Amino acid sequence: MSDRKLVFRCQQCGYVSPKWMGRCPDCQHWHTLLEESPRKAEGKGAGPFPGRSVPMVLAEIPELKEDRILTGVREWDRVLGWGLIPGSLVLLAGDPGIGKSTLLLQNLARVAQQQKVLYVSGEESPQQLKMRAARLKVDATNLFIYAETLLESIIDVILHDPPAILAIDSIQTIYSNMLEVAPGSISQVRECASKLMRMAKSENISIFLVGHVTKEGSIAGPRTLEHLVDTVLYLEGDRTHAFRVLRAMKNRYGSCNEIGVFEMKEAGMEEVPNPSQLLLSERPRGVSGSVVVCSMEGTRPLLVELQALVSATGWTQPRRTCMGVDNNRLSLLVAVLEKKAGFNFAQQDVFVNVAGGVRLLEPAADLALITALVSTYLDRAVPADYVVWGEVGLAGEVRGVGHAAARIGEARKLGFSRHVIPVSNADRLAPELNGECVGVRSLQDLLEAVFTGSR
Ligand SMILES: Nc1ncnc2c1ncn2[C@@H]1O[C@H](COP(=O)(O)OP(=O)(O)OP(=O)(O)O)[C@@H](O)[C@H]1O
Ligand SMILES: [Mg+2]
Repeated sequence: MSDRKLVFRCQQCGYVSPKWMGRCPDCQHWHTLLEESPRKAEGKGAGPFPGRSVPMVLAEIPELKEDRILTGVREWDRVLGWGLIPGSLVLLAGDPGIGKSTLLLQNLARVAQQQKVLYVSGEESPQQLKMRAARLKVDATNLFIYAETLLESIIDVILHDPPAILAIDSIQTIYSNMLEVAPGSISQVRECASKLMRMAKSENISIFLVGHVTKEGSIAGPRTLEHLVDTVLYLEGDRTHAFRVLRAMKNRYGSCNEIGVFEMKEAGMEEVPNPSQLLLSERPRGVSGSVVVCSMEGTRPLLVELQALVSATGWTQPRRTCMGVDNNRLSLLVAVLEKKAGFNFAQQDVFVNVAGGVRLLEPAADLALITALVSTYLDRAVPADYVVWGEVGLAGEVRGVGHAAARIGEARKLGFSRHVIPVSNADRLAPELNGECVGVRSLQDLLEAVFTGSR
């Protein structure tokens, strides 16, 4: 009797069924079940990592050597937790065309001067990579390029002469001949990634997996691998802007939520050591609706310009449109302003934008968003040296947020001398910082602090 029964796996959610179905009963997507042969069970004691097959006393486990591999590009090294740990598996994900291959090639070429780096390309030919390397002016003398998509061939090459760092661009193009499903399917992506994971640990090779965020967001995309890998980096950015933010969403070897800021130029990704300065460089002065907010990105304060515009609506239902902030958050704050401060947005369209294509996800942006809305509503500009941050509750109360000293330090560096912040933060600040701060407890306090005499 054959022990290799066929199963059908949903490529959307991973649901497994013994028979084919047109629609997945779990996620309800149509035509997502694909046939695959289940893997044979591995031999006895074949654990995922060398030496893990016997229980060990925690104190007796040999320590991991932390010889982190640094590139000298601070924005890159910081996001990895100040360097790459040998033997770690890193997923670099992002939208198609955002600059993943460029960033990886540039940074790995820097390391290649000291360590052997193998760049496996399943998407581009070696000639294309050479052209890119020439445009980016990277030192390509020690960088090995291998155009291959069959996992078993890649593993053979690695075992023959192991590199210190391996890059797979992209994981969606690699397939294993152990599975009879197409490359890019959920099973192939998972199988290849887990085999590479074992290889990373057993051979002590650091591996970068490039993954495209697909249209559906999850189909065989990076999300299916997030739990497996040690570090997840997302390269984000608005295609119309040159800014690219490299964000650590998960890091087993460092702080997560750390960001690195780059600018996409003809010669590749250039690091931006002072993003606040660049983000504020085109800020208009004396214009209503514009407010500077200090947001924390990981351990890093970032000054960003938040813009709002309200105008009389021509629709029965006024529009609430925002870019860079959460739409629900905007609706909530508009409701708080109406209920607690007596503003009336019922006949007004509201538009909000964060300059530079940055996304403000922190509640600390609430107070600035309210300030921008009031500023455009009253057509009164916020003084140019003001920076505003704090969380706003449904009762119109202003709540404290973390990292007050770091936020104020960053704002002072760029010449801001007035910080409108929650009173609970202001009370706990050192006296030398406190002098420049206006602590606010409620929306009324905010209106008084920023728009005295305007209502
Ligand atoms: N000659 C050039 N000058 C300036 N920018 C360029 C040039 N060629 C490419 N680019 C930029 O590089 C981007 C593509 O970068 P890259 O190939 O690294 O992205 P990717 O995320 O790896 O894309 P893919 O999803 O196709 O693999 C383009 O979107 C473009 O902005
Ligand atoms: Mg690419």
